[in-house]
Amino acid sequence: MSKTYRVAILGATGAVGTEFLELLASRHFPLAELKLLASPRSAGRTIEFAGENIPVEVVDENAFKNVDIVLASAGASTSRVWADKAVAAGAVVIDNSSAFRMEPTVPLVVPEVNPQAAFTHKGIIANPNCTTILMAVAVWPLHQVQAVQRIVAATYQSASGAGARAMEEMKEQAQAILQGESAKTDIFPYPLAFNLFPHNSKLNDLGYCEEEMKMVNETKKIFATPEMRITATCVRVPVLRAHSEAINLEFGSPFSVEKAREILSHAPGVKLVEDWQANYFPMPMEASGKDDVLVGRIRQDLSNPNGLELWLSGDQIRKGAALNAVQIAELLVKENSPLTPELAISGQN
Ligand code: A2P
Repeated sequence: MSKTYRVAILGATGAVGTEFLELLASRHFPLAELKLLASPRSAGRTIEFAGENIPVEVVDENAFKNVDIVLASAGASTSRVWADKAVAAGAVVIDNSSAFRMEPTVPLVVPEVNPQAAFTHKGIIANPNCTTILMAVAVWPLHQVQAVQRIVAATYQSASGAGARAMEEMKEQAQAILQGESAKTDIFPYPLAFNLFPHNSKLNDLGYCEEEMKMVNETKKIFATPEMRITATCVRVPVLRAHSEAINLEFGSPFSVEKAREILSHAPGVKLVEDWQANYFPMPMEASGKDDVLVGRIRQDLSNPNGLELWLSGDQIRKGAALNAVQIAELLVKENSPLTPELAISGQN
């Protein structure tokens, strides 16, 4: 009989946590046990999973005993408090927060790009930033054929990136504005409904926000290309779920549009969406709930013979977060292998 694993979801009541539950069920993850963890705000709640009502537990010192895999998506500060404790208790933590991504000993994994890195972990594997994952899935197959020298990206990021409460806030803002009332802000610094604003993460001295620097630094780490030149402008737009990105790629010599289309038409995790007659290309509404990153509008950069332009939409909560993490967990448990070559933590039989 194949092994099954005891999984805990840290942040089970959140937008990504909810998606973890759906994915574990729909992908038939080999579960022995499922533990749902959240903050004291969720004490007393239960969540239905596979026909069973599972109580949400408040995370505490004993929460990770007898747990093989922790899927964490409760924010960086929560991960900083609990990840090491979970590892000390014997679990492997797949962490969706930014807490450990740039630590040299923590692998940063997109299974379509660098699956082998997952097996170098020392207890924590980091799931990259959502916009970074979507871009990496689309750009990597091209980079494999001809090295990308420079990436210029602009993002159109949905409310879902700021969590379940942010999605609710945007809906309430839209309703208020339609009723002639003023939009209240709590999670976001400014109204997002009928508006947009540059990503509100912390700015550095160069004028780049944290989200933009994540795209720059995390992409280099995932691709193992420290020399790659990358710049980004990240913008929050009034879309409920799924991010979009305009990406300009520069190569060392021309990269034909036909070749790019051919490569992306069977790249893992990518779906080519292009109908030039109908002016039909990837849209966040169509990317929502889908596993694939929708890529299209591939064209030569008019201003640069070595440049390609492309456009993508991808579900931020799914491939940008929960799906990528579950795929990492699937890599670890594939073919009954131990979770790590060094630790050989046993799953239950
Ligand atoms: P809770 O619902 O109890 O606040 P989202 O990204 O959609 O906002 O979700 C964040 C998730 O992280 C929620 O499940 C939330 O639980 C959880 N969370 C936030 N802060 C903590 C904390 N300090 N300890 C444990 N879980 C937390």
